[in-house]
Parts: sequence; structure tokens; C-alpha cells
Amino acid sequence: MKKVNIAVVGATGMVGRTFLKVLEERDFPYEKIYCYASKRSAGMKVKCKGEDIIVEELTESSFDRDIDIALFSAGGATSEKFAPIAASKGVIVIDNSSHFRMHDEVPLVVPEVNPEAIWQHKNIIANPNCSTIQAMVALKPLQDQYGLDRVVISTYQAVSGSGVKGVTDLEEGLKGSTETLAYPHPIANNCIPHIDVFMDNGYTKEEMKMIDETKKILNDAELKVTATAVRVPLYDCHSEALNVQLSKEFEIEDIFKLYEAYDGIILQDDVSNNVYPLATTAKGTDDVYIGRIRRDFSIDNGINIWVVADNIRKGAASNAIQIAEVLINR
Ligand code: A2P
Repeated sequence: MKKVNIAVVGATGMVGRTFLKVLEERDFPYEKIYCYASKRSAGMKVKCKGEDIIVEELTESSFDRDIDIALFSAGGATSEKFAPIAASKGVIVIDNSSHFRMHDEVPLVVPEVNPEAIWQHKNIIANPNCSTIQAMVALKPLQDQYGLDRVVISTYQAVSGSGVKGVTDLEEGLKGSTETLAYPHPIANNCIPHIDVFMDNGYTKEEMKMIDETKKILNDAELKVTATAVRVPLYDCHSEALNVQLSKEFEIEDIFKLYEAYDGIILQDDVSNNVYPLATTAKGTDDVYIGRIRRDFSIDNGINIWVVADNIRKGAASNAIQIAEVLINR
């Protein structure tokens, strides 16, 4: 692997810290690493591969040094302003915000699914929405083998997806507080069918992200996709029920074989022994767990699947770093 210089933007945040952890765990071959956050965090220390790194304030001159790849997770407004500045200086930005995802000239990439799209980049590559990423890993083998007619995604999303405020709402809510920082209602003891803002069409922005991003990543603008996104009182890992109508007939055993052979997927489906994907299994890993595979008898060529992944890792930091690995391994 080629050694490169890396920048982490938003290094003090939940995803930013996970970038550092995953870079270390995967022994990503960087030569130098620079960490940026807001002015408030300037001077703070973070750690990667045993080295203390001083966090610097992100400014317009942050990319005037020799940086090859910048991993951004500091919110859409920061990406909107600073990713183009970095890109104009020759840095390849891998951006975790939703800001650039639907831009025509920006590839939206899940490395197991559409790695070839990476090479269309003009120095900005977008990391998809956390719920979209794990759904894509589950859908791609089905699309390749049978074609997809329609997909219904129902999510059960953990509070870590809302950052520190979401985690605080659950922690304090479990102690009896009804005050909230991240949500319009207490998350403790509730499933809240409301993630991000409501759009004019009655969907939430999170649901529309899943719908639009799915079509872009699977390169099928005509694919019928719908989604319901729900926040649930879990700290980590998103779970999803996928209901899929395939374009061709299938045998259920062949679906098992397909998933068994697929990179990045762990098949856990042995219901007679109560084996199926759980958040507690997926936590801390970079894989997508698939199980509860069963025929949907109510439609032609229908199938139901349960999909679980770590939303901060595969749904954010690890997916971005896997994109960076593809870039440096060319
Ligand atoms: P800071 O800690 O200094 O506020 P999270 O998503 O967990 O809230 O993390 C957001 C990350 O983005 C943090 O590292 C935060 O830094 C960083 N960030 C937020 N706003 C800015 C900004 N205007 N410029 C640079 N970094 C920012």
C-alpha cells in the first residue's frame, strides 16, 4: 500500500473519533495525519496509532499543506464550505455529510457495491447515509443475480446516529427525564417515526435520503423504493427490515448461498437455534449482518430480510476508510 497524508475533519466528534480508531485498527498506511475541528477544540489532544495529535482549528488554509485524502464528518455546512476548498487544492475529500451525495459529479460509494464509481470523482466522494449503506450491501447481490423490482425499507435506528445529544436523551430518559436535546419526544420507551425534518410530501428527509441514494448507488433511477425510518431506544447499531420484490424467480437456498459468499456480509440465520442478527453482535464490527431470510408469500418473487450493522462504523467511519483504501490501492 502507498503511504499517504491524511486529514480528519471533525476529529473530536463521534464519527471523527471513530475514524481515528478505525485507521488504527486497519493499520491504514498514513505517513502524516492532521486533525481538525472547530475553534473550541483547538489545542485538544486526540490519539491514533499511539501518537498524540493536537487538534487544529479548521480554516481556509488548513489544506495548504501536503494532504492526499481528507475524511470529513463535521456536518453539512462545514462540508459545503471546506470540501470544495480542499478539493481545489488537490485533496481527495471523502465526505460523510449529506451535502454532496446527490450531486451528479460526486460519486456516492459503498465499496462492496459500486467501487468503480470512485474513479469518476472530481476530488469529492460522498459516503452514503448510514441506513442506506447497510441496505445496499444486502441488496447488491440480489440485484446482480435476480434484478430488483421494488424495495420497502423499514429502519430501527440507534440514538448514536444523532450524536452526543441523542445518546444523552436516551441516558437521561432512562433515568426518568422527559427533557430532550435531540428529539421532539423522549426516546426512552418510545419508537419515534421521525428522523431529520419532514418534507412537503409527508416523508422525512432521512426516508427521502434512503430512497434517492438507493437509486443512485444501485444505478437504477426507475427502481421502486419506499422507506420508513424510525428512531428506537438503542445506543448503537441500526437494524432494518427489507421487503424486496425480485425481477426473477428464486430458490430460498440460493439466497443463503449468495450471501454466504459475499464480501462484507455475515449470514446469521439459524432460527431453530434463535440465531439471527442482533445489534449487540454487530457493534464494533465493519460487517453487515443478514438473517431472517424468508419468502414473502404475498407477492411474486418476494423476500424478507433482516439487516444489522454498526451505524458509526460501517454506516459512517469504516465505509469512508474503505473508500480511502480503494483509492490508495489502485
Ligand atoms: P467541535 O468538537 O470542536 O465542535 P458530532 O457530529 O459528534 O457532533 O461532531 C461534529 C464534529 O464536527 C466535531 O469534531 C466538531 O468539532 C466538528 N465541527 C462542528 N462545527 C465545525 C466547524 N464549523 N468547523 C470545524 N469543525 C466543526
